[in-house]
Amino acid sequence: MPSVIFVKRDGSEVTIEADAGLSVMEIGRDNGIGLEGTCGGSLSCATCHVVVDEAWVEKTGAPSADEEDMLDLAFGLEDTSRLGCQIKMTDDLDGLKLRLPDDD
Ligand code: FES
Repeated sequence: MPSVIFVKRDGSEVTIEADAGLSVMEIGRDNGIGLEGTCGGSLSCATCHVVVDEAWVEKTGAPSADEEDMLDLAFGLEDTSRLGCQIKMTDDLDGLKLRLPDDD
C-alpha cells in the first residue's frame, strides 16, 4: 500500500498509508490533516490545494488546463501547487511528499 507524507501548516509531518486509486484530497480529508476538499473532487473549490515537494513534481505531472484555472483562485499559490483531488495515488507515488500551503 503506497504512503503519502503530508507536511502540515505547523511544520509537522504525517505519513499515511492509503489504497492506490484514492486521491490525495480524499486521503488528507479523511485523516483530519486540515485538507478540506469541499466540492468532493469536481474541480470547483480549490480547498484541496497542496504544494508538491520538488522531488516529486516529475512523477505527479503537470496540472490540466481546468486545474490551472481553479488553482488561480487558491491562496498561497506556489510553482509546484496542485489540487489534491487531481492526484491519484499509485504504487509509483509511494512516499509522495506534499505540504499544505500557508492560508494567511
Ligand atoms: S476538492 Fe474541490 S477542487 Fe479539489
